[in-house]
Amino acid sequence: MKTYKIAVVEGDGIGHEIIPQALSVAKGAADKNGFIIEPCFFPFGAGYYLVHGDFMPEDGLETLKNHDAILFGAVGLPQVDDTLPARHFTFKVRNAFSQYVNYRPVKLYEGVPCPLKNKGPGDIDFVVIRENNEGEFVQSGGQIRPDDIDGMAIDTSVFTRRGIERIARYSFGLARRRKGKVTNVTKSNTLINSLAYWDRVIAEVAPEFGDVNYKKMYVDAAAANFVLRPEIFDVVLTTNMIGDILSDLGGAIMGGLGLGSSGNINPEKKYPSMFEPIHGSAPDIAGKNIANPVGAILSTALMLEHLGEKEAAGDIRTATQEYLKTGPLSKDLGGSGSTQEIGESILARI
Ligand code: NAI
Ligand code: MG
Repeated sequence: MKTYKIAVVEGDGIGHEIIPQALSVAKGAADKNGFIIEPCFFPFGAGYYLVHGDFMPEDGLETLKNHDAILFGAVGLPQVDDTLPARHFTFKVRNAFSQYVNYRPVKLYEGVPCPLKNKGPGDIDFVVIRENNEGEFVQSGGQIRPDDIDGMAIDTSVFTRRGIERIARYSFGLARRRKGKVTNVTKSNTLINSLAYWDRVIAEVAPEFGDVNYKKMYVDAAAANFVLRPEIFDVVLTTNMIGDILSDLGGAIMGGLGLGSSGNINPEKKYPSMFEPIHGSAPDIAGKNIANPVGAILSTALMLEHLGEKEAAGDIRTATQEYLKTGPLSKDLGGSGSTQEIGESILARI
């Protein structure tokens, strides 16, 4: 039987609660569709750092590389310097495995209370494609005399033609399979070097996809439109930092951060891709069995789709949608369903 080796990194905080539910739902979908998920667990993260002095062992990336995909919770703990988790785990994996696409669906499901007035499930259904390997988050820069009165700090953004072309082509290709529309969310009127170049390269790629409607929108206007007119979006193509911020806003308009799923994707499949909910380790609610596991569960649907198991992915999405219609919803959505109950309810529907 077809077997997929999945590296499972629960991480920290609620990662230990949501990922087991996500994994059992994914295994249920595998059983139903005649393939096997073989999980291998790695205790990497801020907890690991407290014991071992790093977020993963020296050969951690080599180890992860020998898997078909990575299922990831979130990393970060209040007692650990919060500049470390991204640099020593998340960005490290995203860069080493050339996961240059960050795929974040924004979809309002029936049964979930929408914070936007007069908007229903048909109005909110788009994908944020965030460039995931360069831009504002390359972490190139430094602090000069930070303790002095004349202290200063510099972060440099890096945008390359190759990096922009590949994320643009991915986005236009995706739009072709969706509603045929790409909105480039930018700020080239003020970032007149980096984002003007970003716009220029995207505009050069656009004619290769003449059947796709292409528009440019500044991020300030886009933020307002996420709230006022979310129905105008199909594929939102944007930079690393803008995408990070807008996709949490996307999570909010679909009902809450706990519902958002994502994939860090290497489209060429040369390296494993990594799938994770959009939220963090939520230390404020960790250990209480109240975290919403839906974002993690829907991330496994993205994972199985990427692995070519479209039917299993569809089963997970259908079961999740059916569950959301009837609840009980989790506490963040105003319900009383526990993490475990919700996972079991979705699994039972599969
Ligand atoms: P967060 O996403 O962990 O939490 C923000 C708020 O949303 C909290 O009130 C939390 O209780 C709530 N929330 C998040 N996920 C939820 C869920 N599944 N169900 C119900 N409520 C949920 O973001 P925050 O507080 O800014 O960061 C906490 C830690 O997570 C930090 O150390 C941060 O660096 C880390 N982090 C890690 C990420 C990753 O590993 N990819 C991504 C974002 C944050
Ligand atoms: Mg974020």
